[in-house]
Amino acid sequence: MLRARVALNPASVVAPVSRRTFGSFVEHMGRCVYTGIYEPGHPLADEDGFRTDVLALARELGVTMVRYPGGNFVSGYRWEDGIGPVADRPRRRDLAWRSIETNEVGIDEFAKWAEKADVEIMYAVNLGTRGVQEALDVHEYINHPEGTHLSELRRANGAEKPYGIKLWCLGNELDGPWQTGHKTPEEYGLLAAATARALRSAEPDLELVACGSSSSIMPTFGSWESTLLEHAYDLVDYVSCHAYYEEHDGDLGSFLASAVDMDHFVNSIVATADAVGARLKSKKKINLSFDEWNVWYLSRFQSAPLPKEWEVAPRVIEDQYNVADAVVVGSLLISLLRHSDRVTAACQAQLVNVIAPIMTEPGGPAWRQTIFHPFARTAALAKGDVLRLEIQSPVYATEKYGEAPVIDAVATHDPATGDVVVFAVNRDQERAVEFAVDLTAFGTDLTVAEAWTLTDDDVRAVNTKDDPERVTMQPLTGVALDGGAATLTLPRISWSAIRFTRA
Ligand code: AHR
Repeated sequence: MLRARVALNPASVVAPVSRRTFGSFVEHMGRCVYTGIYEPGHPLADEDGFRTDVLALARELGVTMVRYPGGNFVSGYRWEDGIGPVADRPRRRDLAWRSIETNEVGIDEFAKWAEKADVEIMYAVNLGTRGVQEALDVHEYINHPEGTHLSELRRANGAEKPYGIKLWCLGNELDGPWQTGHKTPEEYGLLAAATARALRSAEPDLELVACGSSSSIMPTFGSWESTLLEHAYDLVDYVSCHAYYEEHDGDLGSFLASAVDMDHFVNSIVATADAVGARLKSKKKINLSFDEWNVWYLSRFQSAPLPKEWEVAPRVIEDQYNVADAVVVGSLLISLLRHSDRVTAACQAQLVNVIAPIMTEPGGPAWRQTIFHPFARTAALAKGDVLRLEIQSPVYATEKYGEAPVIDAVATHDPATGDVVVFAVNRDQERAVEFAVDLTAFGTDLTVAEAWTLTDDDVRAVNTKDDPERVTMQPLTGVALDGGAATLTLPRISWSAIRFTRA
């Protein structure tokens, strides 16, 4: 049996858990909006056309914040197409996903959905084909209280009160040549700074997210952030990070270690931002918004062309996730939580149908993919402070990342309840690992309140419409607690969550 160990200490705190870590993403892409969150005529649609089965699953998932309306989509989007009488709204080409946007859903409808789902909106403006003026216009429509042309238009459209959106993304992935309106770092830095300055004149306490790199393999990774922050350091609060992982050519070992890359990504951008801050003699710290992350079989998408015909809501990147994918998603959440001092917002991309934890059939059911489970458990259990851990773990060799730890973990401690929660991944493909967790610093009166694991003899098992509960969380057996010494037996290729509470 392999062995690993860690000692937890309530005084060793990284930062409080940010509720914004449990964000998601709704893009006008494929079937995320149409037949995803919105399907008038569906037997379970409410009076506004929203699927109540999807709303219930979004709440169960524990999503706290949703980025909207894109994504690559936003870089060609005219927000004003999506307001006013639905019958008058134009149908447009969406060049990003080669589909037809009907504009039946716009900001007024999405704000209604967000209220029902009880989530904060993170709103992205178009800095691909548009600029400062249009960003100001959409801000006026969304957040200006009353008495101006666009705020009165919102009121006339039925929203008397401003939406009060605080978190704004200054464009999307403008470092990527695939992006409509792709820019050089210099061009983007100047535009982001000008847009941020204008938005702040309208509403000084907005929280602004500048686009960082769309992956760590971009040729401009690091230099993009550095140039952009030279222009915008004092004007923005966050730099965004985007990362998608997949298993390449059956290399499961590297895939299971994807969080090593996420750690590297975060550490590199924190170092880059802090270096710019030092050059500018600024005391301010820029935080990271990891506002697109997930498992995505991107290489399959890249090898299959987008639909030839211009369709409304085509099936695009509807990846079906297996057990290994869910274990990786759980481990990426471990990485995000570990960095809670600097990653204070994050969005799993996306929420429904498009590389998503929730799937739907038009006119049919909605169900949970495997990746739903680690997200939902983490969002429900991670409370209070994130603890700093020094894990002693065996390592294994990976093709992509060199040596990776077999066991990775993060823990939270809620001073209000005394609960301690350990989230742990076992990346070994053959063996269970005995993980010794020293909790003596919390006293000796802790008991095991709940212990769950996601694992399966068949790591390729998936949930489908016809077998939606094939993969779920299972009770983790073999949790021993003696005084303050816990021993967890973590199955091979598994993600687990164990909550200890005061007796
Ligand atoms: O989430 C899918 C796409 O991935 C988004 O539209 C884009 O921002 C990223 O490349």
